[in-house]
Amino acid sequence: MSAHGSPVPMMSAPCGPLSGVAEVPGDKSISHRSLILGALTVGETRISGLLEGEDVLDTARAMRAFGAEVTDEGGGNWSVHGVGVGGFAEPDRVIDCGNSGTGVRLIMGAMATSPISATFTGDASLNKRPMARVTDPLALFGAQAVGRSGGRLPMTIVGAEDPVPVRYTVPVPSAQVKSAVLLAGLNAPGRTVVIEQEPTRDHTERMLAGFGAEITTEDTEEGRVITLTGQPELVPQVIAVPRDPSSAAFPVCAALIVPGSDVLVPGIGLNPTRAGLFATLREMGADLAFENEREEGGEPVADLRVRYSPDMRGIDVPPERAASMIDEYPVLSVVAAFAHGVTMMRGVRELRVKESDRIAAMADGLRANGIAVEEGEDWWSVTGNGPGSVTGGATCASHLDHRIAMSFMVLGMAAQQPVTVDDGTPIATSFPVFEPLMGRLGAALSHPDG
Ligand code: S3P
Repeated sequence: MSAHGSPVPMMSAPCGPLSGVAEVPGDKSISHRSLILGALTVGETRISGLLEGEDVLDTARAMRAFGAEVTDEGGGNWSVHGVGVGGFAEPDRVIDCGNSGTGVRLIMGAMATSPISATFTGDASLNKRPMARVTDPLALFGAQAVGRSGGRLPMTIVGAEDPVPVRYTVPVPSAQVKSAVLLAGLNAPGRTVVIEQEPTRDHTERMLAGFGAEITTEDTEEGRVITLTGQPELVPQVIAVPRDPSSAAFPVCAALIVPGSDVLVPGIGLNPTRAGLFATLREMGADLAFENEREEGGEPVADLRVRYSPDMRGIDVPPERAASMIDEYPVLSVVAAFAHGVTMMRGVRELRVKESDRIAAMADGLRANGIAVEEGEDWWSVTGNGPGSVTGGATCASHLDHRIAMSFMVLGMAAQQPVTVDDGTPIATSFPVFEPLMGRLGAALSHPDG
């Protein structure tokens, strides 16, 4: 089922070489944070290159409901007139975050230390996902949460009247949880400390520093210790959102497995906490070249040239790399099917609580297309037999998960027979221009029922 309407099947047929320039949209993580931090800042924050996917548009609507003025100026340019730290108004309607775990968890954090209540809901995928990982630490600040059994949405958060700062060790590797605690800490007096045992994406820390908050990060024996001084006056920013490496992963992986391909992906964010996929692909023997490495808006950025790589081999992906490529395992598993030998992916339990259970969703669809997959609770492996070996021909369920749908579309580009997903509409949550962009490179995507 689609989030906003009927499911629309999508088919990917085997295609000739992919070539050209793939200008992927803005980074989803940075886009959410730009709107939320802009909303917590008095004055005008200007954003260019904002991802205009459904997830981020839901966050923009939510920020309006909390009192910020959020304006779409066209061409990916947005402006936010914020209300300041502690200035959120109480929304007069339910906040619908659609498909977005990042949106709902960060916004819950941002409002939890203000004396207001808000009720959150989402689509069928989001309403199944665990929220206790966020509401547990928010309770330490003094916020209350009332939701469905198992800590599921819909859920009401009653913000703390007199928030206290907290010291919290994040029990799962989750940037969303870390960020929720930091955003809550913004309106608590004194110092909020978040400790993470495995470093996760650090956009919140970088952006809080950019907005003028006092925030430090220290690597200690306990883990990465992040200390934020509460109740700062944030300073409006001009933000250029880099292109999303997690979206770039799809044209990049497609070019690696479609014979004769040569694709340039300009201006992608290469924050080390996000770049694990590219290290993994290189270890497998992928032909990737980073050109024109530079810094834009406090984030490392480069142009990535990728060429067809017929001699890739399976590897053991180091589990300590998991957080830096957590969203890329589905499409990595597709590349693994065209490599020689076994690709083993361990330490990836978190994949089971994403927009779908991504291990189960990929394992089912890959097997249906003739690929050998084994799985355990926190690991899975894919055995590849080299280029040309994948039969394809199956229809796979996308489970309301954009990355599952796009991964199977990449599979179809290099399989012997077309691959279909039951619903391609979730792709619009993060990569609304996926179909025309891949089409311009040479992919053969279509809608079998339409
Ligand atoms: C995100 C964090 C990750 C990632 C998600 C975006 C973020 O989730 O999977 O797509 O922007 O903070 P977790 O924090 O749950 O690992």
